[in-house]
Amino acid sequence: MNAETKITAEAQAKEDLYYMVHKGIRFANARMLVAIGQTDPADDAAVDATLARLAEHLEISRSHLEHENSAIHTAIEARCPGGSDHASEDHGEHLNSFEELARLAEDVASATIDRAAKLRRLYQRFALFVADDFAHMHEEETELQPLIEKHFSAEEIAGIHQRIVQNIPPMKMAKFLRFMLGGASPAERIGMLTGMQTGMPADIFNGMMEAVTGAKWRMGDWDALERAVC
Ligand SMILES: [Fe+2]
Repeated sequence: MNAETKITAEAQAKEDLYYMVHKGIRFANARMLVAIGQTDPADDAAVDATLARLAEHLEISRSHLEHENSAIHTAIEARCPGGSDHASEDHGEHLNSFEELARLAEDVASATIDRAAKLRRLYQRFALFVADDFAHMHEEETELQPLIEKHFSAEEIAGIHQRIVQNIPPMKMAKFLRFMLGGASPAERIGMLTGMQTGMPADIFNGMMEAVTGAKWRMGDWDALERAVC
């Protein structure tokens, strides 16, 4: 193994902190946008269901942003001051977007004759947020992740990931998993859940997966999982 091969092998061994979660968020953002667009403003139950789903979507999006701020940006700033400035500015703008989207959702909920127009405003604003978020996540993956790999060892990066995951309660993790498993390839789903199962007590894993799939789930029933999350 020459020096160049060794450096490449070391770089490959470092965990990508953004890969799986961002795929899940891209998947959920796209799904959520389509769901708002498909909602019939005259159908009260459909509107209620979409707004409830949006509230949950914004909750998970906010949590993801907080995880990045507290675990990733803090670590970057400790070794590379200013390294996370632009991503943090984006996060501030995202928080403003979440508040605005929540207000627009309330407008839809309380609307009477002009509900279709209010729903369209919500749809348009969510689309702009998604556009910003797609660009933002790309920047994190192509600029921040290399910065992290330059300044942290593989063990330290794994430790950052562990700190994020350990602080997520199982029922909140179930919501993240709906995003992440939905956006993952079949092989990635198997890898993710096999790893989680070995690291968790069986009753907690089973309860979490029941929350993900909406029914009791047996490890290995990948078709049922795909039907539930995709
Ligand atoms: Fe971010």
